[in-house]
Amino acid sequence: MIVFEKVSYQYPRGPLAIRDVTLEIKKGEFVGVIGHSGAGKTTMAKLAVGLLKPTKGRVLVEGMDTAKTPVSELARKVGYVYQNPDMMLFASSILEEVSFALRNLGYPESEIEERVLRALRAVDLNKPLSASPHALSFGEKHRLAIACVLAVEPDYIILDEPTTGLDYYRCLLLFEVLRKLHQAGRTVIVITHDLDLLARFSTRVIVLERGAVIRDGKPREVLGDVEFLSEHGFVPTHLLQLARRTGSEDLTPEGVARAVAARLIGRQASA
Ligand SMILES: Nc1ncnc2c1ncn2[C@@H]1O[C@H](COP(=O)(O)OP(=O)(O)OP(=O)(O)O)[C@@H](O)[C@H]1O
Ligand SMILES: [Mg+2]
Repeated sequence: MIVFEKVSYQYPRGPLAIRDVTLEIKKGEFVGVIGHSGAGKTTMAKLAVGLLKPTKGRVLVEGMDTAKTPVSELARKVGYVYQNPDMMLFASSILEEVSFALRNLGYPESEIEERVLRALRAVDLNKPLSASPHALSFGEKHRLAIACVLAVEPDYIILDEPTTGLDYYRCLLLFEVLRKLHQAGRTVIVITHDLDLLARFSTRVIVLERGAVIRDGKPREVLGDVEFLSEHGFVPTHLLQLARRTGSEDLTPEGVARAVAARLIGRQASA
């Protein structure tokens, strides 16, 4: 479990980016975090992996206080994929890139290769191991960055806006990868602006506004609340509006399509 206990974070020469946040993320959840630019999403993610320490309150990862535990220890439990993959990639080959963290954590060579191959398969990146990470497309770099984190096989994986720069087809593929990880028992926390993808894949949605959690619940409750979304400056997508108008509990495209069809059939029958 990742626990935030009355956590605040003040940047040394910046704003109070997180304000008194209390929440628990349990193993097995697929959490979506939404919020406008500057809401504190990245700050919250960095607090969860121990890259930042709370200026007030405590963050616990499986009972370990992030302020007292080395980041390397936390990295075995929680992986963080940066908002910008270029922040993570530095090696001259894919193999070197994905095995870097494993070497640092002291895994034996025999296990390293196995883990590297497994991680690359999970993100569906079929490039030669000797290829340069810098020659990859933006989407491929993102998937490589995810593989670097997956190779460590952390229980929790946090992805910071992983769909940036991807076309919708690639976004869907990426979320399918995340769904597989989730089904395999990993806890996935994804920061994104894509409400429809969260409606389809997540089990919980957290809304951040000016550093505070203003809503936290099932996608159906949070994303289905079109008034709430509009009041807080989120644009309810066509799908979410249609779900609302048809009273569809299911926010997936298939579920909404079924609700629309049921409405049409009902209308024909009463005509
Ligand atoms: N290193 C830093 N030093 C000072 N202030 C910072 C620093 N990083 C972020 N901030 C500020 O903290 C607040 C929260 O930033 P954060 O990056 O967490 O937002 P975000 O929700 O991830 O936004 P985005 O959607 O643009 O990525 C913003 O006001 C930002 O300007
Ligand atoms: Mg951010």
